[in-house]
Amino acid sequence: MNIEILPREKVFRDPVHNYIPVRYRVILDLINSPEMQRLRRIHQLGVANTVFQGAEHTRFTHSLGVYEVAQEICDNFAQNYPSQTPGDGLWDDSERLVALCAALLHDIGHGAYSHTFEHIFNTDHEAITRQILTSPDTTVNKVLRTVAPDFPEKVASVIDHSYPNPQVVQMISSQIDADRMDYLLRDAYNTGTNYGLFDLTRILRVMRPYAGGIAFEPNGMHAVEDYIVSRFQMYQQIYFHPVSRGMEVVLTGILQRAKELYEDDAFAPEFTPTLLLPFFEGKFDLPDYLALDDGVLTTYFHYWEKHPDPILADLSARFLNRQPLKSAAFNSATAHLLPEMAALVDEAGFDSHYYSARNSSFDLPYDQYDPTSASPKTQIEIMEDDNTLEELSTLSPLVGAITGKVTGDERFYFPKAMLTPADSPDYKPVYGQFQRYLSSGHVIDPAIYGQD
Ligand code: NI
Repeated sequence: MNIEILPREKVFRDPVHNYIPVRYRVILDLINSPEMQRLRRIHQLGVANTVFQGAEHTRFTHSLGVYEVAQEICDNFAQNYPSQTPGDGLWDDSERLVALCAALLHDIGHGAYSHTFEHIFNTDHEAITRQILTSPDTTVNKVLRTVAPDFPEKVASVIDHSYPNPQVVQMISSQIDADRMDYLLRDAYNTGTNYGLFDLTRILRVMRPYAGGIAFEPNGMHAVEDYIVSRFQMYQQIYFHPVSRGMEVVLTGILQRAKELYEDDAFAPEFTPTLLLPFFEGKFDLPDYLALDDGVLTTYFHYWEKHPDPILADLSARFLNRQPLKSAAFNSATAHLLPEMAALVDEAGFDSHYYSARNSSFDLPYDQYDPTSASPKTQIEIMEDDNTLEELSTLSPLVGAITGKVTGDERFYFPKAMLTPADSPDYKPVYGQFQRYLSSGHVIDPAIYGQD
């Protein structure tokens, strides 16, 4: 291992962690790589800035934040739980650099509007993360190789959970990890909400390594409890927000329509999105992927506002001008109404293929604490004084009360015009029919439309 320490520490100013110090040359070089700098051009929360206008923060600031939380965990472990003999289950500080690199790079494969883009074009940000780390053509790979020839593979294996040291893996990815702790605090700060707040300093102090990974001291239980409750509230209030999802439905419609027009040879040459062609054609390589960011897509949407295809033009305008689709929650008892409602959307002049959608918050890439689920990442464990481990929800009635609770919702999306009131000059009878469905039998609750 060739580990170069910087002659002078470098610091990055951060709104959540204040100063983020960098001491290793490899970390600084990774931060300066084109692949990391690209994350400055990708919003952390995708379209959520259309609902929480402060949420302009990027994957870059989050990645630095995760690096800093991992650094603080390593500092605590090295100070308070240093390994004395190999295999004693305590912290081996020679693992620090691989942990810090994995923390910094864990989101490097995310793309513009990741969730939606992946869905339409079958990209996979986890596979791309591994490719960026291990492909000899990237700057990230070149920088990692200065440490050791097998170092890129080691860092990749931490991120995909196959690294042999569970402490390192759980630091980056588990129920309480550097990633989640940073994004909850950062998303709360940038959305201007208070739900995501918890006592990070306290949690870091009560974390401890053991042979099986990372556990928590009994006297830290309330801090951990607070974190779980914060996380629960962030899902309900921010990540599952019905209006953000309404913007994502518009985005899905744009990308889907553009792809279909291209496949039908209906893309007028002056509107051809050169940087998206490899994805339309389903054969993209890593440089193609890295050439995309939020700005590239948004620029195409500007062009497409004038596209001769009325659907692509209209959806692009809706996206740029923030006109989300509206929604109503449905459940298994009311799902049978949706085909008829979609037919009314068509009858009103909107192609329901693009202007209506079912959207389930359960499909969103966020998880909730559920130690009993089929594939929990890990449980949160409290290490008692006699070194036995207890799962958190068995000790904390508060966590027990929200553990494994199904709290998302499924919504049906449609154009706002469908809600036009009867006394409006724009009213059409089909709108009235649609509205009667919304209130019929009180099964779809009209009081819970996504409000804008
Ligand atoms: Ni992350």
